Amino acid sequence: MSRIFSGIQPSGELHIGNYLGAVKNWVALQQRFESFYCIVDYHAITVEYEPALLRERTRDMAISILASGVDPERAVLFLQSAVPEHTELAWIFNTLTPLGELERQTQFKDKSSRQESIPVGLLTYPVLQAADILLYRADLVPVGEDQLQHLELSRLVARKWNARFSPEKPFFPEPKAEVTPTPRVMGLDGTAKMSKSLGNTVGLLEEPAAIWEKLKPAVTDPARVRRTDPGTPEVCNIYHLHKAFSPPETVKHVAVQCSTAGWGCIDCKKVLFESMKKELDPIRERAAEIRSNPATVDTTLRAGAEKAHAVAKETMREVKERMGFAP
Ligand code: TRP
Repeated sequence: MSRIFSGIQPSGELHIGNYLGAVKNWVALQQRFESFYCIVDYHAITVEYEPALLRERTRDMAISILASGVDPERAVLFLQSAVPEHTELAWIFNTLTPLGELERQTQFKDKSSRQESIPVGLLTYPVLQAADILLYRADLVPVGEDQLQHLELSRLVARKWNARFSPEKPFFPEPKAEVTPTPRVMGLDGTAKMSKSLGNTVGLLEEPAAIWEKLKPAVTDPARVRRTDPGTPEVCNIYHLHKAFSPPETVKHVAVQCSTAGWGCIDCKKVLFESMKKELDPIRERAAEIRSNPATVDTTLRAGAEKAHAVAKETMREVKERMGFAP
């Protein structure tokens, strides 16, 4: 069975962009693969942060992931900081990674341009990511499109390490990206990717009334000014959300109603709202249940870390042996 690994930063409660772009796919993939899902708290400290907030957000993220349907009986869910081999392997990979490759990473260029003093950790962020994945010798990595460059670097690191220390038979597989079916969810302002820092998100656990208040004014096809103007579904963010939340027959119907001006945008949004409620209500209820029983989250994460640690230890044993470290 192929092994998959994916990571998510502990940014607090998931929004529907993270959910559709990552966690929903994790839930589907855990049926078919041996899955390792990691809350990457060491990645989260490469930008300024508050310790108390990190703790709270880590916990909220775990609750959101479990409520979304990641099943600890099938998948290993754990915190990166609970398995010290991640940073140990990252150090080793640091010695193999060309500086130029890291300076070329768009995410680094983007984040470092907004800071005066640039921490080295921001530069070596993708090296830690390579260590996350290769520690479990994962073949597949479900991610959004924005992570393709990081994945490219993970493959380069795997190739370099193999060429140097395991030339006969590659020890690390070169991990492939499995791009999620809904890779890029736009914010409700319709201009940029849904992101917490832009304040254009819909929280996964938000109350229905609050979600409706956000959907009502959401940007649709800008060319559709009057109720009688026919719209172009493909350019409308609401249509893309239908594709994520509504059943296929509804999506077809929506496209027809939009392009013939059979429905106005508000009619279309009401149908979307119903589809969203159908998917999100049970998740919100499960989250409340998990939250009311805090010990279960700790127990689940601890058990996950134990399973992850067993695999990580074995990888590091082989890595150190091949690299010439004394036993
Ligand atoms: N960089 C990823 C993101 O921001 C998070 C991440 C860290 C990750 N390690 C990973 C994703 C390993 C996949 C595999 O989304």
